[in-house]
Amino acid sequence: MLFQQGWPWLLLLALVLALLAVKAHCSRPEVRAGGGGAAAAAGRAKYVESTFRRHFWSTADADHYKLSEDGEEAELVLDRVAASGFASNTRYLFGRISIQMKVHPGDSAGTVTTFYTSSLSGKHDELDFEFLGNEVGKPYVLQTNVYASGVGDREQRIKLWFDPTADFHTYSIHWNKKIIIFMVDETPIRIYKNNEDLGVPYPCRQPMSVFASMWNGEDWATQSGAIKLNWSKSPFKARYRHYDVEGCEVPWYKGEVTPCTSRKSDALLKRATIQHLNIEQLVRLQWVTENMLVYDYCTDVYRYPKPHPECSRNSGLQDSGQDLEASNNFFYLDPSHTSSW
Ligand SMILES: *[C@@H]1O[C@H](CO)[C@@H](O)[C@H](O)[C@H]1NC(C)=O
Repeated sequence: MLFQQGWPWLLLLALVLALLAVKAHCSRPEVRAGGGGAAAAAGRAKYVESTFRRHFWSTADADHYKLSEDGEEAELVLDRVAASGFASNTRYLFGRISIQMKVHPGDSAGTVTTFYTSSLSGKHDELDFEFLGNEVGKPYVLQTNVYASGVGDREQRIKLWFDPTADFHTYSIHWNKKIIIFMVDETPIRIYKNNEDLGVPYPCRQPMSVFASMWNGEDWATQSGAIKLNWSKSPFKARYRHYDVEGCEVPWYKGEVTPCTSRKSDALLKRATIQHLNIEQLVRLQWVTENMLVYDYCTDVYRYPKPHPECSRNSGLQDSGQDLEASNNFFYLDPSHTSSW
């Protein structure tokens, strides 16, 4: 009896120790040009609280995960020595998760640069953004994938309408009970609805952590693995900033998802995530589908002679109903040529 009661306290103690360890790791002295020297000399380095320090821990060493001085920008490095990544301290069940990324310019063939969520469980859920590197002059391909209850195989790939190596762009995942929407800047590039009524698993029971990583995917990433990674072009680097999350937190020590399925969380998610695409967003999604899609598991008859049951519902067009018919004029606008976009 005593033993049973002792358990939560042991767990709590372990957690506190773990938190202290993380804090200790994060509060390494800042190296500053100029004024920082005096503080360091006094043995009291200033701890700069920042988005990345607050939200993430590094899965790489200091040579492969670098923070800007203010801690608001992170750089991942992939070289012969190691791959790299970072992971969130918090798990979420539903929410809006977004970050700005700028991927490696020049030859990036064989590299994979990611931003994703995962439950890390046995039958895991996962929502992926994966940049598949390419040779100079050939565009990056942006792959999205959805895993539910351990089953993935739902890849879509698009070309982008801009150069993702030239500037930062925002990549976000809107995830609620009804729908998952992958967004690039203001443009929805993919929707994935809850089709549990068709027997299709949907990620809505397991909290997920947030991850970013950069690794060697030369076996498959570039032209199905035909183009290998060229190490003499390394180090490969990707930069991340403006991390933003609004979602229902499921702390590790609780493991309890009930609060995230309550009415209160519904209100939060209504505010935080897109639940229905409006006409303008549907038009953009269709534009992406018609012009940018380079691979879709739904139309891959070699892999799947019988299409997945959810495919007919996830194109965004079926969703539109009368709204879209009424606005057919908008339908063929090209977002890349419309200044207001
Ligand atoms: C790898 O890059 C080096 C340096 O740019 C180049 O000389 C070499 O030909 C490349 N190797 C392959 C297999 O493309």
